Amino acid sequence: MDIEAIKTQIDSEIQNINSPEELEDFRVRFLGRKGIIAQLTSTIPSLPQQERAAVGQDVNALKNKILSLINEKQKLITARPIQPAVTLCDISMPGIVQDLGHLHPITKVVDEICTIFNRMGFSVVEGPEIETEYNNFTGLNIPLEHPSRDVFDTFYLKLPRYPVIPLSRSTGKQANRQTGKLLLRSHTSPVQIRVMKSRKAPLAVVVPGRVYRPDAVDASHSFMFHQIEGFMVDKNIRFSDLKGVLEALAKAVFGKDIKMRFRPHFFPFTEPSAEVDISCIICQGKGCSVCGKKGWLEILGSGMIHPNVFKYVGYDAKKYTGFAFGLGIERIAMLKYGIDDIRLFFENDLRFLGQF
Ligand code: PHE
Repeated sequence: MDIEAIKTQIDSEIQNINSPEELEDFRVRFLGRKGIIAQLTSTIPSLPQQERAAVGQDVNALKNKILSLINEKQKLITARPIQPAVTLCDISMPGIVQDLGHLHPITKVVDEICTIFNRMGFSVVEGPEIETEYNNFTGLNIPLEHPSRDVFDTFYLKLPRYPVIPLSRSTGKQANRQTGKLLLRSHTSPVQIRVMKSRKAPLAVVVPGRVYRPDAVDASHSFMFHQIEGFMVDKNIRFSDLKGVLEALAKAVFGKDIKMRFRPHFFPFTEPSAEVDISCIICQGKGCSVCGKKGWLEILGSGMIHPNVFKYVGYDAKKYTGFAFGLGIERIAMLKYGIDDIRLFFENDLRFLGQF
């Protein structure tokens, strides 16, 4: 066998080896018991005496060369990084775009209005949607037989057949048990009662939240909608304070050119009472289909807190006066975004919600 020819064969074969299996096969073929080196070695004794030493040295050098080649290759193969599965992944393809959620338009308007009031010094408070009949009606000067209960009629809850002991969240002790029926609040005004019963005047509070009424659902009515209640109680609070605060709100939400008007109205829990209109933001007061050709849009009810309400919560009506108002969020959101059907807010159609 020609050692030079073997060397060339080795050099070209080792180049093409890429896996541990191929390398092992190579090792066996050259260095194995019946491998080429073994065959070469076995021919040495039959060579003429004077050639044996030189051929022996050549075979030995060849063997060492093969060993060191295998060694190097071994290192290369094991150190090689794992190849990415290039064929399975086209990095130039556009990625899968993750849909991002965002706030509901009603939540946005609630946030905006609460922020405006907060800047004016009002704190933001929440009350429960399940209320006592007392807080929703009686405490607000709407006695059982009074016809104005109809306006705030609501859904009553069946009480459980066993008594449930309400524990105060902070102390874990039995809380003051409220007697009477439970209902879904039909306005946010009962939170006036809750706040005034638990805190002393002076107060400036806004209360966002859901309210419920047994109204047939149509483009402008829903059995559930949102209000923001606001009230301020201190010595010498006057109707002009109410006007100033509401005007600041209307300008902040609808722009400084908006006009407001106060119409006398009746609410059992305020005296005097007024409904507040803003100039129609669609027709700027000229008259259109949205405002029913009136040029004005009603956005809230308001008034000076009735002395009877102060009496129910234990405030001194001779010392304190206060104003209160309740505004409908859906109405404001519909005007602000030009939405003509209240049902859109609650149907969860992503084609609608995605526009905000
Ligand atoms: N609670 C009244 C309603 O829902 C609004 C209101 C609140 C009126 C506070 C006067 C004072 O219509």
